[in-house]
Amino acid sequence: MANPRVAILISGRGSNMMALVEAAQNPSYPAEIALVISNQANATGLSRAKAAGIATAIVEHAPFGSDRERFEGAMQEAIESRTADLICLAGFMRLLTPWFVKRWEGRMLNIHPALLPAFRGLDTHRRALCAGVKIHGATVHFVSAEMDSGPIIAQGATVVRGDDTEQTLAARVLEIEHRIYPMALGLLAAGRVQMVGGRCVIDGEVENHQVMIAPYVR
Ligand code: GAR
Repeated sequence: MANPRVAILISGRGSNMMALVEAAQNPSYPAEIALVISNQANATGLSRAKAAGIATAIVEHAPFGSDRERFEGAMQEAIESRTADLICLAGFMRLLTPWFVKRWEGRMLNIHPALLPAFRGLDTHRRALCAGVKIHGATVHFVSAEMDSGPIIAQGATVVRGDDTEQTLAARVLEIEHRIYPMALGLLAAGRVQMVGGRCVIDGEVENHQVMIAPYVR
């Protein structure tokens, strides 16, 4: 069977999009990037995608005003024109309607810069530092109607240090994002993600009892 084709939705710099594009350049990767769509005409990610030889489209939300379904209808047309099977949201900063979410149920992923269900929404690193958490990270999950929620496929974590700033923490979490997003999409595309009782179970997961304890002290 042919590899699933993926549409990636972005709004900005597109570093996660590029991590997916680069992973898919490996002939053994089980998915193909069919299209990158941005709702911002000046998103820097667009030129990065073009330079990598990926088809791009701009579907701006502003002309549709408050009619989110019509905006999503325009995105749906672009996605259909490239016959995509899966969607990856990669720094796509628009809330999606239940109509669009339902249409792509089980076929749309998002990456969020926090260990969900903690710190949904914006400014996750600042809020993690304010809360004093000792471990922070990123999550790839199926998109459900509620913001930053849905069955979790993969997470990665880092220790939060006492001298971390929003910037140092964001940089480490972003590196994690670039590892877990290609991994999670690869698992889904290879048919290795099973839904059991509303949770994701991964086929072929190997035993690993690694633990992370913070702070790390002598
Ligand atoms: C990433 O950190 C991503 O996790 C976050 O936006 C950034 C986009 O960066 N997404 C969200 O906050 C969604 N709730 P990128 O454009 O370089 O991938």
